[in-house]
Amino acid sequence: MTALPSSTSEPRSREAPEPSSASSAASKGDASAPDAHGAGPRRALVQDIKPTPIKERSPLGVVDLTLGPGQHLKAVGVVYGVEHTIEGEGYRATLFLDQYNQRIRILSYEAPDHQALVLAVRYLAEANGFDKIIAFATRDDWQEFLRFGYVLEAVIAHYHRGEDAYVVSKFRSQERLSSGVLMEEILLIERILAAPEPPADPSPLPADVELRLARSSDLAELVELYAEIFETYPSPLLHASYLEAILQKDSLFAVCTVKGRIVAAASAELHPGDLAAELTDCATRPEARGRGLMSQLLRRLERELTTRGYICAYTMARARSYGMNAVFHGLGYTFMGRLVNNCDIYGAYEDMNIWVRRLERPKVPAGFTRSEEEDDEVAS
Ligand SMILES: CC(C)(COP(=O)(O)OP(=O)(O)OC[C@H]1O[C@@H](n2cnc3c(N)ncnc32)[C@H](O)[C@@H]1OP(=O)(O)O)[C@@H](O)C(=O)NCCC(=O)NCCS
Repeated sequence: MTALPSSTSEPRSREAPEPSSASSAASKGDASAPDAHGAGPRRALVQDIKPTPIKERSPLGVVDLTLGPGQHLKAVGVVYGVEHTIEGEGYRATLFLDQYNQRIRILSYEAPDHQALVLAVRYLAEANGFDKIIAFATRDDWQEFLRFGYVLEAVIAHYHRGEDAYVVSKFRSQERLSSGVLMEEILLIERILAAPEPPADPSPLPADVELRLARSSDLAELVELYAEIFETYPSPLLHASYLEAILQKDSLFAVCTVKGRIVAAASAELHPGDLAAELTDCATRPEARGRGLMSQLLRRLERELTTRGYICAYTMARARSYGMNAVFHGLGYTFMGRLVNNCDIYGAYEDMNIWVRRLERPKVPAGFTRSEEEDDEVAS
């Protein structure tokens, strides 16, 4: 059973900003559909900005990767990417060779010699034809990356156990560097930030909705939900075996159900070493949108994170999605930059906006000991 208060959905006094004339209904499932459960959306929903694909989708079936000079790997099956550790004089790093998104993510590194690290990673990007490299640098060394042509795309405040992470990226093709809808995305953020200060808490959950952490018995329905909403996705979320491996281990999932059917879901991808979590995998079925379900799911995940001692919650929100950015603004997140052509999501490469919030320890009333986790029965 959910531990959250329930009541009927009431419209808020806060007015929706005018929909953009530059926006258009192009992506699947974004219409402001009437609510099948008795109460309509609380406001007219703004449509996503029309996608403009920049490059071909990468093949996943048989993948040839270069791991170093004279080192090659042929992987067969559905291969999204490979985690790979490199070491040389003056550096050591763990990389994700991200075949699906045609990029290299530097997951962690030690680099007394930044030039040696940058050159080793550049070799792998060139050898594999990847056209973006991303690192989460520290306050002390992010400028070292700029010396080698990286650009500062965003800051994830509080990411490294309370210290800021600087997202520095290197682009290695003109098409990856250029986003055809950047100005529209900038105006979209301006409209969202111009909206009145949001209330501290989202509206209560509608009476017909239950909210809880996901269980392993939800796996098939979660895959079905994500497959319905996302034409493409930057992680293997649409594969049940992957979801099974991460569910409530590497990632916490929460779901909203109506009459037992999942209508919305979101997750928190845990980075325990950094005490940071990425709020991601956000999807609400079209008929359930605009009723506050995503806001409630994200608040629920935040509470779970704070009880586990996490400091930073952040997200990478599709920059073309008014709704996703409005949700995080409404929850008090701070906009901290945009990652251009970051990943293949929703059918094309898209820019992703960074929103960040420092988590506060929950105030537990005296004598109150029961956790939501107990109420939610996390285990299957
Ligand atoms: C983005 C998405 C998850 C939002 O889910 P949702 O359950 O409709 O969000 P909520 O109802 O909690 O929205 C919270 C607030 O934002 C507003 N909002 C949400 N989408 C909106 C939209 N498209 N236009 C205007 N306002 C919107 C809501 O009205 C609500 O405002 P209020 O609290 O002042 O009433 C949903 O539209 C979706 O699944 N989109 C497709 C998948 C996707 O792009 N996911 C993001 C991947 S990064």
